[in-house]
Amino acid sequence: MNDASGPAIRRAHVTGWGRYAPAQVLTNADLEKMVDTSDEWIRTRTGIRERRVAAANETTASMAAVAGLRAIHTAGIQPDDIDLILLATLTPDYWMPSTAALVKEAIGNSRATAFDVMAACSGFVYGFATAQAYIQAGLAQHVLVIGSELLTRFLDYTDRSTCILFGDGAGAVVLSASDEPGGALGVEMTTEPQGAYMIWLPAGGSKAPPSAETIARGEHYVRMEGNQTYRFATKTMATTALESIRRSGLDPSDIDLFIPHQANVRIIEAVAKGLDLPMDKMFINLDRYGNTSAASVPIALAEAVNEGRVEIGDNVTIVAFGAGFTSGAVTINWTADPARGRSADDAVRPEDVSVRLPVDWDSVDPIPDALADLMRQPGSLDVPLDDVAPGEPEHAQPHAQVPA
Ligand code: ACO
Repeated sequence: MNDASGPAIRRAHVTGWGRYAPAQVLTNADLEKMVDTSDEWIRTRTGIRERRVAAANETTASMAAVAGLRAIHTAGIQPDDIDLILLATLTPDYWMPSTAALVKEAIGNSRATAFDVMAACSGFVYGFATAQAYIQAGLAQHVLVIGSELLTRFLDYTDRSTCILFGDGAGAVVLSASDEPGGALGVEMTTEPQGAYMIWLPAGGSKAPPSAETIARGEHYVRMEGNQTYRFATKTMATTALESIRRSGLDPSDIDLFIPHQANVRIIEAVAKGLDLPMDKMFINLDRYGNTSAASVPIALAEAVNEGRVEIGDNVTIVAFGAGFTSGAVTINWTADPARGRSADDAVRPEDVSVRLPVDWDSVDPIPDALADLMRQPGSLDVPLDDVAPGEPEHAQPHAQVPA
């Protein structure tokens, strides 16, 4: 009880944020050598100039752990203070266990409940809203919400309509319970199964278990009807954001910064037009990362705050759309000191983080053939596959061990 009138209202405040991007860059010029495309086409149709590619020893879990630890550092708490880990991804390390379970150990947490959230590119916003609900219900004090994706291993590098769009990376926030005003406000989430086969990955699940035939058909790669997805995105991003803002008791003109899903700059321009807002209220970093699916909003949020685009008291709307079709938006009244996140990258180095490896199984080289030459170029993370980490069984391949 904080006063005589009733119980304190528990609110979910963003107290930490962090992101991780693999070192290797895949430029539009690199893609020109693989498929019939051009830098000019990609830039003018999407706004993307380059994207990142995870090294052979990196996984969705390893990237998630680095981003998560950076968010925990920013929040000024210890890993064991986290009591719930929600990891949004459509590219998990394995079908089971959950990637969140691996991340729990990698960040040095002994007490959290951990599970994955599958809502494609909307996954981080769905996870954020879930964390908010846990906090408001009194079920959690500090929640780590992560979006992490390793899409470059699920792309058909002969399909120019999809392989140019996506990249790898991870972003995370810590949401903490507080009785203070502000924090996460109105939430809106939608799911429209009519779009279920507009973006999908046909094989590998129970409907089409992996086999030589599914692989020969290329059914283990992302497929997309670009035009239909584009139409859905432009319509739904604006309406979803608007509903979240309305539920927060605000008007679009009250929003200081939008952090939209970074799929295509033309989609973001259409959303700005739909909400009658100038483009300088839209944060954009897709030129450097492409579409990192569930990682896109938290990477953008961390960069926006660290770059000084968000101040205490600002209203920020995060909004995403993705396969399903899904969409989600949350409006946040920002309460954390933006300067807190600027030391996180130096404080948490990828080489200090490791993910548990299986003891009786050797993985294959996970780098797609089309990217193999790129990953051997100077500047890439050159970690040999047999570079077993100290203490690890020698027959286990260190794919999930981030570079030393
Ligand atoms: N380079 C050159 N030409 C290309 C390329 C390429 N990479 N890709 C397609 N083209 C060609 C097409 O073949 C077509 O040629 P044609 O006219 O001779 O038939 C022409 O360019 C136009 O193709 P469109 O598909 O109409 O191009 P559009 O302007 O719609 O842009 C794009 C395509 C970028 C994919 C766009 O539709 C888009 O961004 N859609 C949304 C995609 C998206 O956001 N997906 C993420 C969903 S989130 C998730 O959950 C994973």
